[in-house]
Amino acid sequence: MNNKMKTLIDEASLHARIADIATEIDEYYLGQWWYMRTQEPVVIIGILTGAMFFMADLVRKLSIRVELDFIRVSTYPGKTTIAKKPKIITQPTRSLHNAHVLLLDDILDTGKTINMVRENLELQSTESIMTAVLLRKTGKALTGVTPGFVGFDIPDDFVIGYGLDYNGRYREMPYVAVWSKDGH
Ligand code: IMP
Ligand code: MG
Repeated sequence: MNNKMKTLIDEASLHARIADIATEIDEYYLGQWWYMRTQEPVVIIGILTGAMFFMADLVRKLSIRVELDFIRVSTYPGKTTIAKKPKIITQPTRSLHNAHVLLLDDILDTGKTINMVRENLELQSTESIMTAVLLRKTGKALTGVTPGFVGFDIPDDFVIGYGLDYNGRYREMPYVAVWSKDGH
């Protein structure tokens, strides 16, 4: 770790909370009438690239039946921490017609990404869409964007690690850290 990074959530805390979220998700779907009747798999869609570690750790803790797919969205093209308008670059490969979808993202900031992806998936006549985010920046989300499942509420700092990047870097760090330009 260099002096630009201050650990915000360590590895053990990430894994413990993700196990709890998995339990919350299991309980939610096991209580849905359609799941009780059909055990139809929940289609878990990770928003690439940021959600990959959260998704990998979460799905291995779930008991419900799942299928996995991805959607690729670009948010911060280039060397910036200022979000541009999110754009879908790659769609999920399977048909989402009548599917029960659980959308996963690394972080909810303004909520524009989740909103845009959700609206786009709804056009594909999904049966239901729930969302889960590992991190949520407090106080910034657009009104009406309330994820079904949230890992941690965090302050409004730019964070890296565990999937989150700055200009494409630091995603592979096993913990979440606050990134600062000047090392403070
Ligand atoms: P939103 O559309 O404003 O909710 O932003 C969500 C997306 O922006 C996430 O999928 C992340 O890719 C990215 N993002 C937001 N905040 C951060 C951050 O602090 N570090 C790295 N990426 C972030
Ligand atoms: Mg992202």
